[in-house]
Amino acid sequence: MRKPLVMGNWKLNGTKDSVTALVNALVPAANDASAKADVAVCAPAVFIGMVENLAQGSKLLWGSEDCDVHTSGAYTGENSPTMLKEFGCTYAIVGHSERRDYHKESNECVAAKYKAAQENGLIPVLCVGESEQEFDAGKTMDVVKAELKAVIDLCGIESFANAVIAYEPIWAIGTGKTATPEIAQKVHSDIRAYLASFDAEVAAKVQILYGGSCNAKTAPELFSQADIDGGLVGGASLKADDFKSIIAAAVANA
Ligand code: PGA
Repeated sequence: MRKPLVMGNWKLNGTKDSVTALVNALVPAANDASAKADVAVCAPAVFIGMVENLAQGSKLLWGSEDCDVHTSGAYTGENSPTMLKEFGCTYAIVGHSERRDYHKESNECVAAKYKAAQENGLIPVLCVGESEQEFDAGKTMDVVKAELKAVIDLCGIESFANAVIAYEPIWAIGTGKTATPEIAQKVHSDIRAYLASFDAEVAAKVQILYGGSCNAKTAPELFSQADIDGGLVGGASLKADDFKSIIAAAVANA
C-alpha cells in the first residue's frame, strides 16, 4: 500500500510571521495524520531554517522548491543539496513547470538536479506535466514520458524507489481549472504503466501526487482515485485551514 503524501509548495510567498503561524498550525495536523498520511511543506530557501526550528521533532516534514546540481562552488544564488540536507530537508522539488518555463530548465537539467538531490540524501519530487496546447493536441503522455525518460536514462528506473512524482498539468496550476479526477487518474495510471514497462515493482510503489488547483473542494475526489497518492498544493497550502482540509482528505482515503 502506498502512503499518501500531501505537500505544500509555497513558491515565492511568506513572511516570518506567516511562516511561523502556518507551521505552528500544521505541526499538530501533521502529527495527527502521520499514521495514515505524510505531510510536508516546501519553502523558499530563506525560510527553511525557520521551518526546521519550528517543526523539528514533529511529524511535519519539509523540503526545498528546487536544488542545484553542485554541492558547493562558484554558483552565485544557488542552494546546494548538501546545504538543504543540513537544514533538515527531506524533499527537494525538481522540475517544477515554473522553473522549466521561467528558468529554461531542460529535461536533462532537471534529471541532473534529481540525481544531485538523491545522491545527497534528499528525496526528489519530480514534477511532470503538459501545457494546455499539448493537452489539446493529445500529447500529454509524449511530454510526460520524455520528462520521465531523461531521469531514467541518467539515474535508472530503480531511482524511483526513492523519489516522488508529481503530475501537474500546467493549464491547471494557479488557474482554478483542476483536472477532473478522471483525467488525472488516467494520466497517473499511464505514468505507472510507463514505469512498469521498465520495472513493475518500482512502478507499483512510487507515490504519484496530483498538482494543479488542488484544494479543499477538489482534493477528496482526486485522492479517491486509485493511482493518485496525494497532492502537491500551491495556493491552498498557504492557508492553514484549507491545507488541513486537504490533509484530512488524504487521511480519509488512506
Ligand atoms: P496551485 O499550484 O495549487 O496553486 O495550482 C500547484 C503547484 O504549482 O505546485
